[in-house]
Amino acid sequence: METIRRTKVVDLLKRDDFGAMVNVKGWVRTRRGSKQVNFIALNDGSTINNVQVVVDLANFDEEMLKQITTGACLSVNGELVKSVGAGQAAEIQAREIEVLGVCDNTYPLQKKGHSMEFLREIAHLRPRTNTFGAVFRIRHNMAIAIHKFFHERGFFYFHTPLITASDCEGAGQMFQVTTMNLYDLKKDENGSIIYDNDFFGKQASLTVSGQLEGELAATALGAIYTFGPTFRAENSNTPRHLAEFWMIEPEVAFNDINDNMDLAEEFIKYCVQWALDNCYDDVKFLNDMFDKGLIERLQGVLKESFVRLPYTEGIKILEEAVANGHKFEFPVYWGVDLASEHERYLVEEHFKRPVILTDYPKEIKAFYMKQNEDGKTVRAMDVLFPKIGEIIGGSEREENYDKLLARIQELGIPMKDMWWYLDTRKYGSCPHSGFGLGFERLLLFVTGMANIRDVIPFPRTPRNAEF
Ligand code: 4AD
Ligand code: MG
Repeated sequence: METIRRTKVVDLLKRDDFGAMVNVKGWVRTRRGSKQVNFIALNDGSTINNVQVVVDLANFDEEMLKQITTGACLSVNGELVKSVGAGQAAEIQAREIEVLGVCDNTYPLQKKGHSMEFLREIAHLRPRTNTFGAVFRIRHNMAIAIHKFFHERGFFYFHTPLITASDCEGAGQMFQVTTMNLYDLKKDENGSIIYDNDFFGKQASLTVSGQLEGELAATALGAIYTFGPTFRAENSNTPRHLAEFWMIEPEVAFNDINDNMDLAEEFIKYCVQWALDNCYDDVKFLNDMFDKGLIERLQGVLKESFVRLPYTEGIKILEEAVANGHKFEFPVYWGVDLASEHERYLVEEHFKRPVILTDYPKEIKAFYMKQNEDGKTVRAMDVLFPKIGEIIGGSEREENYDKLLARIQELGIPMKDMWWYLDTRKYGSCPHSGFGLGFERLLLFVTGMANIRDVIPFPRTPRNAEF
């Protein structure tokens, strides 16, 4: 076969130098046609769109042609021609075809219309479907948007450790990291495990958040963000929870809760705008396939400013709804940790736009949040989104050494884990704020996918770590 430099399909479909000889490589999506002419839809992953390869059967070897089945990998040399059919502008009149990889009839993606559940069982192959190709291209683009947003605003990307000895959120949902022999654990006379001999000489876990170390950096570099994997051993089998997910955590010195809300709103809108500007083909595909309201929802979020409302006011609205006959699965009262049905009621039914809920009861929030004058609430902020519920959680931080120490002791958090964190409050403490955006929750919103397992390539959930 003649050597011609390969063109990606995404670039080829933009070309109009008809008559040029080109090469494309990709996987067969469909093959159809008559006894004389066949049409192959070839996809190379660079775009949702396929390039059509027109094959005059008389010009090719019969044995080779037999190998061109759905899923087979081809290299095609041919002439770029103007497409006669509707849709694409350019197609390829094949001159030479090489089958790089045959694909036998056990290939599970022969037909269209597989269920999402089935595709999760073949997560090693699902990136080859139109849907997952679109989702993973959008995922990449969102990561780029996030780095661009912060870089343009002078934030530094700061790498926090994945292995840690402290539980940032204090929720006790950590995966342990150990090299100890679990069949022969050494215990002291009280039956407690002796961690002295473990790899780190103490109990260690996978991090639930990079925030505490992020604060160390923010009180030195001014404005930082983290973007990395986090791990939570919460046994919640919901469409919105993963055991391994990615989080973006900006932390900014001198920002108060209002600056924090401004940053969160600007940040999410930037990401959504980026998806519409840079992933329109993929977003449009998902809109037309699964969720006819997707594009409208994305545009809606850009137009409106987010509601900003204290938790106490939110509870009043929910209680009124209950009084007027609205049925929730879980009870509503001041002090309750809101369920996603409550969050979605506020966003979807009551305000019909995103809501930032602030000033939660301190009992349901983490130890590091700034305590309000009332002694009951903390300067927390959760950003609630349509279809998702909580997409961001954050707060202004308690910068007062004595108050922070008192809260740590009240909650019985061991000082041996916290001395370094408290040092920031001892040495030149300052007001500061930050938040965490769940990357996959953002992707749920931007792709319109219904289950968080379908926006990460290889989901980790309770009883599931295949691939
Ligand atoms: O509200 P969370 O627990 O906040 C923190 O971890 C803070 N340390 C963040 C900060 O202030 N720097 O988690 C933040 C976000 C949630 O709003 C949600 O979007 C996402 O992380 N999240 C999850 N996403 C997927 N699966 C899970 N199990 C998640 N838990 C939280
Ligand atoms: Mg939260």
